[in-house]
Amino acid sequence: MIQISGTTRICGLFGFPVKHSFSPAMHNAAFSFLGLDYVYIPFQVAPENLSTAISALQSLGITGVNITVPHKQKVIPFLDEISPEAKLIGAVNTVINTKGRLCGYNTDGDGFLRSLKEELDFTPEKKTVLILGAGGAARAVAVGLVLAGAKEILLTNRTLQRAEKLAYFMAENTQAQVRAVSWSMRNIAEVVEKADLIVQTTSVGMYPQEACIEFPFELLRSEQAVYDLVYNPRLTMFLKRAKASGARTAGGLGMLLYQGASAFELWTGVKAPIEVMYKTLKALANV
Ligand code: ATR
Repeated sequence: MIQISGTTRICGLFGFPVKHSFSPAMHNAAFSFLGLDYVYIPFQVAPENLSTAISALQSLGITGVNITVPHKQKVIPFLDEISPEAKLIGAVNTVINTKGRLCGYNTDGDGFLRSLKEELDFTPEKKTVLILGAGGAARAVAVGLVLAGAKEILLTNRTLQRAEKLAYFMAENTQAQVRAVSWSMRNIAEVVEKADLIVQTTSVGMYPQEACIEFPFELLRSEQAVYDLVYNPRLTMFLKRAKASGARTAGGLGMLLYQGASAFELWTGVKAPIEVMYKTLKALANV
């Protein structure tokens, strides 16, 4: 149980809405487990109130916040400094307030890489990765992979133009080889064999929807790793099919955990208690 006193430091979440977020339970469990004098509070911030909410970090002395939909890009102009990774991703998910100076980070890419390592023992150096989807989550994953040394990124998306735009941006701003592939079974089947890792970043299959994108599961091999960013349910239809085809699989709860752990470490300077945070998340997610 967290004891709030005159010295308690405040962290939180700015989003709209915030009521379904798993982050308050995860961070408060971590603070409580380590006996840290911190509390994490969800703040529902309507789009028109974002700038005053950000100013409140300084006026109220709030230590830091996570930023979620729909503010991840819009928050950037209100901050004093942006980390190089957040700049490349084009979005901020964590803000730290250091004596009134607000610095924006993005821990999604890092959280994804930590999860890949812990859950699939996968390191991206010199690897080829096929990313399904080209939205904000895909961009964070692609940037994380490229910064970690991935050799080639293949991007496919229902709206091809969006995949092409992201591929162009990545090719212009990083060293990686990036190519857009059109969203058809035939074209995906042509590239799937060369991928060491396949990452599903679309929102398809998210609770309560039971759905799965079309994918040539029968072409998967046991040495390939398959990651679905969807974390609720933990075992999506996409992962069930990939697993049945023999691939090694992991779901997005690990990314949620490690992006949170990285934010926790930025705010507190203390190593995050991974097991406690993971246990809290598992209890919240549907099977
Ligand atoms: P996020 O920040 O979670 O990535 P987003 O930027 O809105 O959210 O991106 C959602 C992604 O899911 C996109 O790649 C989107 O494809 P489009 O660019 O074609 O919209 C993808 N997506 C959503 N619903 C989909 C569906 N029914 N079938 C295929 N892709 C879908």
